Amino acid sequence: MKFDFTFENPTKIYFGKNSLDNLETELNNYGKRILLAYGGGSIKKNGIYDKVIAILKKCNKEVFECSNILPNPALSKMLEGAKMIKDNNIDLILAVGGGSVIDCVKGMSVAAYYEGEDEVFKRYWIDFKPLDGQKIVPIGTVLTMVGTGSEMDGGSVISDTENKIKSGRVFPTPLYPRFSILNPEYTFTISKYQMVSGIFDCMSHLMEQYFSGDDDNTTDYVIEGIYKSVINSAKIAVKNPLDYEARSNIMWCATLALCGIPGCSKEQDWEVHNIEHQLSAYTNCAHGMGLCAISMPYYRYIYKYGLDKFVRFAKVIWGVDDTGKSKEQVALEGIDCMEKFAKECEMVTTLKELGATKEMLPDIAKSCFLGGGYKKVTHEEILEILKQCYE
Ligand code: NZQ
Ligand code: ZN
Repeated sequence: MKFDFTFENPTKIYFGKNSLDNLETELNNYGKRILLAYGGGSIKKNGIYDKVIAILKKCNKEVFECSNILPNPALSKMLEGAKMIKDNNIDLILAVGGGSVIDCVKGMSVAAYYEGEDEVFKRYWIDFKPLDGQKIVPIGTVLTMVGTGSEMDGGSVISDTENKIKSGRVFPTPLYPRFSILNPEYTFTISKYQMVSGIFDCMSHLMEQYFSGDDDNTTDYVIEGIYKSVINSAKIAVKNPLDYEARSNIMWCATLALCGIPGCSKEQDWEVHNIEHQLSAYTNCAHGMGLCAISMPYYRYIYKYGLDKFVRFAKVIWGVDDTGKSKEQVALEGIDCMEKFAKECEMVTTLKELGATKEMLPDIAKSCFLGGGYKKVTHEEILEILKQCYE
């Protein structure tokens, strides 16, 4: 391991079939006024809402509701929630949902008492300014959709829909959820489309961290272990979505993938995410599906700049036999295996299927934040990559 790092993660995880039993104890640590935040209604259909409300009532909490937080959460919704928090002097935000709900409440928390001159989105999501003592409101979560890792990280991705900018950042620990409740059974009602989207999101988080550096790094071995587990369980869950063991492995893999440990002493890449965020800004597509479509041409473009790592990926993860093959052949075979797996899982591999038009591509490419690991790509190169996965 070459690079210095600091690792801290304060989120308490309750995992398993009975994990919601711990909500009562957690709630007792906070004041009376709770903002219950959730999405477009899935928690009302599958009964999770009723269970949470019953516990809140038992704890004598005063409940305020912020509902209809939709996928790729909008800045306007975040500001609406922030106002509710301030107006009602909220003590704890309880987010019940997936990454979109959890990301949005992190934004609400930081925006509620913000009084700076710049707009809050500009300050924290565009200029990435530090929190600098900003008053925030604590967050707890009940996770219902698996993939983003938002339940155990400081990530918050918000869409300024008016200006077509979707921007994410990782906030410091005060904005991490104080506790997160993970019951794999709560994910049984997710559609197959969303389930596999979340699985690819988890894979992508691992790859964004893995494809960087050339040192012998313990973190790479950790990533390989999580990656192998998630693809193994994905194959089972695709056939039988009600397989508890597979769903629980996927849930924990996704949480681990972005909890900070797979990033320790890694330079990291994150350009697939940068591109996907702008793809979503233009199409409102499901995050993991966008990542899947972009990843194949992206990695086929950059593999030669980190050849040895892509060879390792092919051999260790996908079991590619390298006998008599060049490094290039082995590396490309690894990416082919990933694509085959994605197709078998019915993940989306073209932008057209995600609602993009050819005319959008230059604007999407031009608006992407630039990052990169083995190769720093330009806006022109991003456009070429997007054209490769258009149809
Ligand atoms: O809104 P409801 O009705 O709840 O339906 C949701 C939504 O339509 C549904 N759903 C969730 N749990 C369900 C369920 N349906 C049935 N049963 C359940 N148990 O699933 C749909 C998708 O939910 P969403 O929260 O949007 O998905 P996801 O968890 O993938 O979150 C995506 C957002 O997270 C951001 C993405 O960019 C995107 O905006 N990310 C956040 C990150 C972070 N915080 O660190 C990192 C990621 O890379 C990512 O960028
Ligand atoms: Zn992601």
